[in-house]
Amino acid sequence: MTTPEKTPLAITTINRGLPAGKMPELRMMPSPSDANVYGDVFGGWIMAQVDIAGSLPATRRANGRVATIAVNSFVFKNPVFVGDLLSFYADIVKVGNTSITVNVEVYAERNRLQADTVKVTEAVLTYVATDSDRKPRKVPPIETLIHALPGQAG
Ligand SMILES: CC(C)(COP(=O)(O)OP(=O)(O)OC[C@H]1O[C@@H](n2cnc3c(N)ncnc32)[C@H](O)[C@@H]1OP(=O)(O)O)[C@@H](O)C(=O)NCCC(=O)NCCS
Repeated sequence: MTTPEKTPLAITTINRGLPAGKMPELRMMPSPSDANVYGDVFGGWIMAQVDIAGSLPATRRANGRVATIAVNSFVFKNPVFVGDLLSFYADIVKVGNTSITVNVEVYAERNRLQADTVKVTEAVLTYVATDSDRKPRKVPPIETLIHALPGQAG
C-alpha cells in the first residue's frame, strides 16, 4: 500500500500572480476544439465563459434566475492558448432596481511550472433578475438574503 504524499503548504497555497484573497467563480482549461486555425482560443468561447462566470454572483444576488441584457465592455488584452489554466473572477459593481452589473476579469496561468500568469480579459456585463415569465423583477433587498442564510437565526 502506498502512503499519500504530503505536499508542503507553501506549494499548495502559492499565489501565482492571481488576485490575492479572492476566489475565482470558474476555472477552465480550453482544449484544441476551442481554438481557431491559428491555435489561439476563439473570442466567442471566452465570451461564453465570461457570461457564465458573471451570471453566478448575479444569480446569487438576485436569489433566482437572471438574463444577460448587455455586454457593456469587453477587452481581450492578451491571447489565450490551448492549455492555459483560466481563472474567472466576478464582482458585482452595481445593483439597480432590476439589474445587476458585474465586472469579470480573467487570468491565464501559462507555463504553469514557471508560474507565468497573465491577465487576458476584462469585461463588464449587466444581468436582469427575471421571474418565471421571463419578465424583469426587483432585485431583493440584501438583508433578506443575509437573513435567509442557513444557520442564521431570525
Ligand atoms: C432581460 C429582459 C427580460 C429585460 O426586459 P426589458 O423590458 O428589456 O427590461 P427594462 O427595459 O425594464 O430594463 C431592465 C433593466 O435593465 C437595464 N438595461 C436595459 N438596457 C440596458 C443596457 N443596454 N445596458 C445596461 N442596462 C440596461 C435597465 O436600466 C433596467 O435596470 P434597472 O431596473 O436596474 O433600472 C429582456 O430584455 C430580455 O428578455 N432580453 C433577452 C435576454 C437574453 O436572451 N439574454 C441572453 C441569454 S441569457
